Amino acid sequence: MKYTIAVLPGDGIGPEVTNQAKKALDAVAEAYDHIFLYKEAQIGAVSIEGSGNPLPEKTIEICKNADAILFGAIGDVKYDEDPTLRIRPEQGLLKLRKELDLFCNINPSKAYDQLIKNSPLKREIIKGTDIVIYRELSGGSYSGKKELSKDGTVASDVSVYSVAQISRITHLAFKAAQTRRKKVTLIDKSNVLETSRLWRKTVKEIAKSYKKVKVEYLFADNAAKELILMPKKFDIILTDNLYGDLLSDEAAVITGSIGMLASCCIGEEHALFTPVHGTYPKAVGKDIANPLASILSAALMLEHLGLLDEAEAIQKAVEKSLDLGITTQDLKGKNKYAASTSKVGDFIADYILNQEDSNMNFINIHAGQSTII
Ligand code: IPM
Ligand code: MN
Repeated sequence: MKYTIAVLPGDGIGPEVTNQAKKALDAVAEAYDHIFLYKEAQIGAVSIEGSGNPLPEKTIEICKNADAILFGAIGDVKYDEDPTLRIRPEQGLLKLRKELDLFCNINPSKAYDQLIKNSPLKREIIKGTDIVIYRELSGGSYSGKKELSKDGTVASDVSVYSVAQISRITHLAFKAAQTRRKKVTLIDKSNVLETSRLWRKTVKEIAKSYKKVKVEYLFADNAAKELILMPKKFDIILTDNLYGDLLSDEAAVITGSIGMLASCCIGEEHALFTPVHGTYPKAVGKDIANPLASILSAALMLEHLGLLDEAEAIQKAVEKSLDLGITTQDLKGKNKYAASTSKVGDFIADYILNQEDSNMNFINIHAGQSTII
């Protein structure tokens, strides 16, 4: 089959890791006889440098016409350090979400056994953690009216939610819970905010039609605490745009697996796949960033396209790289060496095509005995 993939590498380590995901996809294309037609497009700080626009029309068009979107990372310290700059990289992503109506961010956070040693939490607390956050992406303070008074001393971001916006993501969250441990935790500030009270009322109503799913309600401040104290108690977390942003990062980092986590942003018609980590400025250009999250985003994309065996082939290759310790510095496997970003990508692609054969190649290469690859 032939698929058109919009590739938006973006900023920071985005291009380096996305290149490895493309290598994995190329291997899948060869092994399973598919054609992936990549349409590369600009977004973020690099796009501002090039055209003054964080999201050119051309990018929107390419994304709208693609079967799926593979996204890298967005943002640049230059903008982080200067809040007065009016044109900002992040606007590109926010506008893209709006243009494609990507209203639901699905953010998994799983403690991989091999990586628990990287977690800031004790092993017994984190072991077995498996959370998926359903973060609403279209509403809240992200998209409401933004104002700065003429004299620059007062600012506001209006937070708006409608029952329709809350309902569509709530159904997705409950459906997902049915296939997992059957629990949804709604996280809000309904003790303070009107929008949160609407969330709670709407979710309570919808919950009635998912009888087997247990629902729990938590205030966001308490949830931030419980996520660290008892991460295992969470299954599906359902929450709004802003709390979802904060809690996704917290959830990703406590498992010790941030370099491994892939997420997606979906709407009725479009879907975007991206590593959870951001731009990682310190690693840019050094060939040291972990490409596995981006590679797993590609696997998630294949699953979404209905290519389940192909997705599994990538996942198996990733597991193999962990088992053999052919990983970047941040994961430090059993072996003494740390592989570069591109070497990990090469291994994944090679393993997809050659399976067991490639282990020998790689072990030999790292022992300096071979230069076949
Ligand atoms: C994310 C990011 C974005 C957000 C930024 C880059 C606009 O942090 O995808 O979580 O805040 O939504
Ligand atoms: Mn974020």
